[in-house]
Amino acid sequence: MPDSPHILMCPPDYYGIEYEINPWMDRRRQCDHEAAARQWNDLRALIEEAGARVSCLAPVPALPDLVFTANAALIYGDTAVPARFRHPQRQGEEPVGRRWLAEHGFRLAPLVSGAYFEGAGDALFCGDTLFAGYRIRSDVRGPTEIGERFGCRVIPLELTDTRFYHLDTCFCPLAPGTAMYYPGAFDDYGRRALRELIGDLIAVGEAEARQFACNAVVVGRRVIANAGCGALRPELAARGFTLLETPLDEFLKAGGAAKCLTLRLDGEEAAAWKSAPGMGPPTIGAVPSVADAPGRRSGL
Ligand code: ARG
Repeated sequence: MPDSPHILMCPPDYYGIEYEINPWMDRRRQCDHEAAARQWNDLRALIEEAGARVSCLAPVPALPDLVFTANAALIYGDTAVPARFRHPQRQGEEPVGRRWLAEHGFRLAPLVSGAYFEGAGDALFCGDTLFAGYRIRSDVRGPTEIGERFGCRVIPLELTDTRFYHLDTCFCPLAPGTAMYYPGAFDDYGRRALRELIGDLIAVGEAEARQFACNAVVVGRRVIANAGCGALRPELAARGFTLLETPLDEFLKAGGAAKCLTLRLDGEEAAAWKSAPGMGPPTIGAVPSVADAPGRRSGL
């Protein structure tokens, strides 16, 4: 079923709070492994019930944040721009993500600028525009390079609140022209750019933002988020979306929730390129791709 939503996750076998690289992490507040496994399985079940296929990246000891597959890469058709993590603690994840993607038919298009870039955590399409969070984790140079390569408009958004250190913690595209955001995580320019460019922009309050409401997985018309985001239900329902809440507090301890735990391999619902001819994901199970295999787009 090549057209069905396809999501990459990584089981939390080695998940834990082993270092502190964002304000949510505190080594004294360890995760409960059993609860984390249960929460991860429940999230996976909801994603599958929504109609998506889930593939798993094999967990690796000593890489506790590998569960956050959103950071592995930015996906664009059959091309993956792999991450370059800012913090040494996460850099060991880079070859793991790259290997999985190459083995599953993606063409790897690493950034040549050497910029830090934390994948779909900081780069999200809404319509035909790539919105890119920068400063706390990713550098602004990365998305600029990506826009030139893919020929798409890039809107860099400076992230100003360290609690919302990745764009996917404060901005969630739902469909082309529709998104949720937490205004407090952006500067004036960012807020204005989002309001001007996204016709239907839902503002999330601080209480829900702290429950990672913007860190939602969107599959079709279902929006899967951490428990405690119920205030958004009517806003979403008015637009034809159903909110599904599932407890993910074990992952909040690392500064992550639903969306961070997933990487959409066939393109997010809101990405306009999904419906362009010839822009499908690779045929899964394909022979490992070779970097210089003939591509559907040139200049990569
Ligand atoms: N502990 C991880 C970090 O700080 C959490 C990553 C969450 N991922 C995301 N896409 N927001 O890097």
